[in-house]
Amino acid sequence: MVGRAKPEVYSTIVSQLTELLDGTGDPIATMASAAAVVHGEVEYASWTGFYRVVEPGLLRIGPYQGPIGCLEIPFDRGVCGAAARRRETVIVDDVHAFAGHIACDPASRSEIVVPVLDPSGALVAVLDVDSRLPAAFDDEDRRGLERVAGLVGQRC
Ligand code: SME
Repeated sequence: MVGRAKPEVYSTIVSQLTELLDGTGDPIATMASAAAVVHGEVEYASWTGFYRVVEPGLLRIGPYQGPIGCLEIPFDRGVCGAAARRRETVIVDDVHAFAGHIACDPASRSEIVVPVLDPSGALVAVLDVDSRLPAAFDDEDRRGLERVAGLVGQRC
């Protein structure tokens, strides 16, 4: 399923992003770059992007790569809402078995959503990566994407 070992993929992503974001403090530029780099490197990703916290309890689409994503997700809906509410990474092996999953892409089978916290610890966004393969995401993805979310959060 995976051509390169995941730790190697995420090391590449983190080095590329660190170099690319050098001196950047703009959250949208940062999220757009992160979505492009992750989507380009993670070969099993079918959708990669950010939902931003725009008011208490509400996420709105941010920069992304892939098919059209839904515009808004309340915290009480979907995998993104669950990660935002719990402020922790959520991995779903089979989206059809997750009550409340929002199917933006009907072909999506598994998903990981990682919270993005700003330097004060406030939740500013979530990073969502979807796959058309079942159970595509594991602890290596969690570790790697949490590092990416950390890089983004520092610039928000
Ligand atoms: N599947 C997500 C919604 C967003 S997209 O798939 C792009 C969810 O259940 O939160």
